[in-house]
Amino acid sequence: MEGAAICLAPVKPLLHRKTAPEGIYRIKFSKFVIVQPWVDGLEIVSPLATGAVRLKDQRLFSILLQLVAACDEATIRGCLPDDLQSHYADVISLLLSSGVAGVCDGRGVADIDQDAVEAGWTFEDLAFHCHTREKMIDLCRNQARQTPIDKKQFPAKHQRIIRGSTALPLPSSVNHNLSFFQVVRERKTIRAYQEQPINAGLLSDFLWHSMHIREEISCDPGLSRAYAGLLKPVASAGALHSIELYLCINRCIGLQPGFYHFDSSDHSLGKLCDLIDPCLQMLELAAASTCRAPQAASVSPSQGQLPDVLVVMAARYGRNASLHQQTGLSYALILKDVGSIYQQLYLVATALGLAPCGLSFGSSELFHQASGHPGLLECSVGEFMIGNPPSNAWL
Ligand SMILES: Cc1cc2nc3c(=O)[nH]c(=O)nc-3n(C[C@H](O)[C@H](O)[C@H](O)COP(=O)(O)O)c2cc1C
Repeated sequence: MEGAAICLAPVKPLLHRKTAPEGIYRIKFSKFVIVQPWVDGLEIVSPLATGAVRLKDQRLFSILLQLVAACDEATIRGCLPDDLQSHYADVISLLLSSGVAGVCDGRGVADIDQDAVEAGWTFEDLAFHCHTREKMIDLCRNQARQTPIDKKQFPAKHQRIIRGSTALPLPSSVNHNLSFFQVVRERKTIRAYQEQPINAGLLSDFLWHSMHIREEISCDPGLSRAYAGLLKPVASAGALHSIELYLCINRCIGLQPGFYHFDSSDHSLGKLCDLIDPCLQMLELAAASTCRAPQAASVSPSQGQLPDVLVVMAARYGRNASLHQQTGLSYALILKDVGSIYQQLYLVATALGLAPCGLSFGSSELFHQASGHPGLLECSVGEFMIGNPPSNAWL
């Protein structure tokens, strides 16, 4: 065979040459490696590795299976083709230097994995963390593999095609007497509701003070990445505001039950459908996830009560990617925006005397069924319950 049989491509700075330890040792792949196609061979990478190993000679592919389990030097040497046997120390050095394989300890854990295994990292979280927490500003990666996004497809204001629109009452200042610091002091999760549901006026105020569009602005004018951003009461990375609010209205005085999109531009609700089965399932899933709540006292005796309204946050991934495809930060920033919205909803609900509860669990599939959106153009990424709290909620 001509050319290199195996090679090491640096993916991070500080790639150091490592050699096999003295004496008897065993090595194996990091438990976080993935194998992917690369030009005319295979590439082995790991979020923890400083280099990617590229296998070009197909006769080396059997090494992949061997290194799944801990191997001693003789085993690795034995799976090399005859003409490469004399290079076994270089192959081991290349695997160890890259960080895709490590020397095992007594428990069979590769040295490079030890901290991650001790802290319980999953592959998905580690890959996401390493991918989004590099020291970088304006980094461009994998441009050759990316399809450019047409920004016009993802305008700042999201106009939906809907069955009918209901204007919400204008925001009122009646009964909003708490000072900001009282709101911060009193904010807490409430998961129980009284018999009388919330009304359209309060829901309108809740949405207005959380998410209404104050202004459309021009971001990075003059640069090739210029785009339209939005200003709202809640903050959003790059003023992109790629999160939309959808409401599963279970019961609300003045509004029909159903699934709605909140139009934050003209402060109205666009109805998508009645409370069909996927909507009911979303409400039930929300109620069921309160049963894991740490403060049992605030849940029982009405454990698992359906909220008056379930707020579903859905991300327009393409809008975020139109700015962040190259940095690879889109999904990380979407989740940070969701956190920012959770806190805004908590504070505004508290100021209005509503019962707020952020949720950990949700189903993009149910959202897809209820909204009818293609799942990857707009997908649910967060849920929040609100309702009319029982009169003893603040005792
Ligand atoms: C991101 C996030 C996810 C949450 N998930 C749930 C949940 O699934 N079920 C639930 O009952 N409460 C959930 N909560 C509420 C927390 O349990 C609550 O904030 C925590 O117990 C502290 O109580 P406090 O909000 O009254 O200060 C969540 C809160 C946040 C911010």
